[in-house]
Amino acid sequence: MAKLNVTICGLEFVNPVMPAAGPPVKDGAMCQAAAQGGAGGIVTKTISVEPADVPRPCMAEIKGGFLNTELWSELPKEQWLATEYQLAKDTDLPVIVGLGYTADQIAELAPLVRPYAAALELSTHYVGNDISPIINALKAAKAAVDIPVFMKMSPHPNIQEIAKAVEEAGADGLVMINSFGPCFGIDIETGLPLMGSSGGYGWLSGAAIKPLALRCIYDAARVVNIPIIGVGGVTNGRDVAEMFMAGASAVQVCTEAILKGPTVYGKIVKELNDFLDSHGYESVDEIKGLTIRKMAEQKMQRQLQVPVVDMKKCILCGRCEISCAYDAISKKNWLKIDGEKCFGCGLCISRCPKQALRMP
Ligand SMILES: Cc1cc2nc3c(=O)[nH]c(=O)nc-3n(C[C@H](O)[C@H](O)[C@H](O)COP(=O)(O)O)c2cc1C
Repeated sequence: MAKLNVTICGLEFVNPVMPAAGPPVKDGAMCQAAAQGGAGGIVTKTISVEPADVPRPCMAEIKGGFLNTELWSELPKEQWLATEYQLAKDTDLPVIVGLGYTADQIAELAPLVRPYAAALELSTHYVGNDISPIINALKAAKAAVDIPVFMKMSPHPNIQEIAKAVEEAGADGLVMINSFGPCFGIDIETGLPLMGSSGGYGWLSGAAIKPLALRCIYDAARVVNIPIIGVGGVTNGRDVAEMFMAGASAVQVCTEAILKGPTVYGKIVKELNDFLDSHGYESVDEIKGLTIRKMAEQKMQRQLQVPVVDMKKCILCGRCEISCAYDAISKKNWLKIDGEKCFGCGLCISRCPKQALRMP
């Protein structure tokens, strides 16, 4: 059993998998369900000074991902303060309270939620790509409370610049990324947009955005020293490992928890442990930033390599053979890769469902 507990800004998490702000933590009861489902910490749905008037339909599963046009919590702050936060706190897990958006709103909300919060998470979703409103919101929170303040970043194009600026302005950690957009989906039965927002736009989340999240984490982790909580497209334990390797110190899960329910956190934790055990890692911290270290070591361009097959793992499903554009793979009752024909593109490795192929 690998060591899975992590400490971030003094907060102790029994494992590094927690819910992300969204429907899976839309009220106190859902926070309790997340804890029972195996989450290592709690993040509450973003609230603001007024409840959100959420356009509907506001969620749709699409191929490879998910669209939403939810805003912040539709529950009034008074209800969160009277009931919901206490239920979240009763889980005895660290509770990160999500707040939005402007400096004035944060200044009003932060002291109110302080009795329930181990840390704050400020969403930058509706404040644009300019740095100053983000910094102002952060400063308002830091002035109001004495607990860690995490900045939840949208996938801003200038992520390194913003990450450095928020670190310099006193952020204790980053959470990245929020959903990506605007995007658009169409219900071809009606011809209408899938989302009921006024422009029909929605924001993309789920598996489709994992590479974007990884890129943001990897870029930010190389320029800041504060911890990063990774979010975006985590569906299993191997995804968590990727986020750690890119530089994350913990992860959050939203879409997969919407689709699979609150037991998904425990499932992901188990898969993470299985991955670490099977690869001889003793703790999840051991793989943190691994890719950054490897890339720094790798001074020269990668050598051209031909994948090798582990026939103990190969199930002869033929997925690699079908998609090999170089006709380098042949399958009978074994799998053979022709080194002369192989272009070294690597596609077969990513297509193999059993991790039977790897570069030597
Ligand atoms: C329906 C829905 C509602 C969301 N609401 C919030 C929110 O209130 N505050 C926030 O910061 N992020 C919100 N998010 C973004 C998620 O917290 C998360 O950053 C994003 O979905 C990427 O993670 P995922 O791929 O695991 O879903 C929401 C996402 C979805 C799908």
